[in-house]
Amino acid sequence: MPAVRSSGRKRARPKQAALSLGAATEKPDYARPFIKWAGGKTQLLPQLARFYPPKGSVERYIEPFLGSGAVFFHVKAMVEPRHVLLWDNNRELVDTFKAVQEDVDRVIKLLARYRARHSKEFFLGMREKRPKSRAGKAARLIYLNKTCFNGLYRVNSRGIFNVPFGRHENPKLFNETWLRQAARALAEARIEAEDFRLLESEARAGDFIYFDPPYHPLSKTSYFTAYTRDLFGQAEQEKLAALCRALDRKGCLLMLSNSDTPLVRRLYKDFEIREVSARRSINSKAERRGAIYELVVLNDRLLEASRGRI
Ligand SMILES: C[S@@+](CC[C@H](N)C(=O)[O-])C[C@H]1O[C@@H](n2cnc3c(N)ncnc32)[C@H](O)[C@@H]1O
Repeated sequence: MPAVRSSGRKRARPKQAALSLGAATEKPDYARPFIKWAGGKTQLLPQLARFYPPKGSVERYIEPFLGSGAVFFHVKAMVEPRHVLLWDNNRELVDTFKAVQEDVDRVIKLLARYRARHSKEFFLGMREKRPKSRAGKAARLIYLNKTCFNGLYRVNSRGIFNVPFGRHENPKLFNETWLRQAARALAEARIEAEDFRLLESEARAGDFIYFDPPYHPLSKTSYFTAYTRDLFGQAEQEKLAALCRALDRKGCLLMLSNSDTPLVRRLYKDFEIREVSARRSINSKAERRGAIYELVVLNDRLLEASRGRI
C-alpha cells in the first residue's frame, strides 16, 4: 500500500495498523467503476478509507465530482450512508450513471451487441453516433471509454468525443455481474448534472462530502482538465476552497483530494492536510507514469468522526 504522510497541523502516526478494507488489487466484493476515468481513485481507496466515518453513522453522502464513482462505490459499501447525492457537470457521464441505475438490462444488451461487432470501423462509426435514449448514450460512452486510446475521455471544443481508436486486442467492455452490482449500489441515489457551486444551498449539517475536483496542475504542461469543455482554473479552485469553508461552518464532514501544489496548500491551510502517494496511469507518455504525492484535505469534524483509524 502506498505511504500516507501527514503534513498539516497534526502529525499522523507513522505506521497504521493494517485494515481489512481490501487493497485495490484484491477482488473486492462491493460494486466498482464500470468506466475508466482520468483521476480515478481506485488505487487510493485503502488510504482514503481510513478517514471515512464509521459504518452506519452517516445520514447522507455527497460526491459532487463523481467521475467513475470509485469512492462512491467504496463509501456505499463501507459506510452505508442512508442517502446518496451524486453530481458531475458532465451530462453524458451523468446520463450513463442514470441509465445503469434505471435500465441496466438494456445497457448490457447494447454492450453485448457492440462487443460482437467491435472493430476499428465500428468504433469510428460509434464516435459519430448521437443516440437519443439514455441507455444508448450510456452504452456508447462505456464502449468508447473501453476501446479508445489510453481509456481517456476527452471532448473537443464542440463537446464531441475525439479520442482515437485504442487497438486493444480483446477489450473488456463490461462485466455483467459488476454492472448489475453497480446498478444495485446506485439504486437509491440521486444523480444529477450540476455544478459544484450549487452545493452550498443543498448541503446540511452532518452530510459527509468527498470532493475530487480536476486537479490544480503541477506545472503548466501538466494541465489536464479536459474532462468537459469547461476549464477548471485557479478561480474555480478558490471558489471550491471558499465552499469548503462555508460547508465546514455548516457542520458537514469534509474530505477533498487535490495535487500537492503551493496554491492548494495555501487554500486549505486552515484544514488538516495529509499526503498520500498515488500512481497515475492516464498519461500519454508511459515513462512518466510513476508514484507522485497528492493531498487529502480533511476538516476537524471528519477527523473527529474517523478517530481511532487515523
Ligand atoms: C478528478 S475527476 C473525479 C474522479 C473520480 N473521483 C473517480 O474516481 O473517477 C473530476 C470530475 O469533476 C467533473 N467536473 C469538472 N468541473 C466540474 C464542476 N464545475 N462541477 C461539477 N463537476 C465538475 C468532471 O466532469 C470530472 O468527472
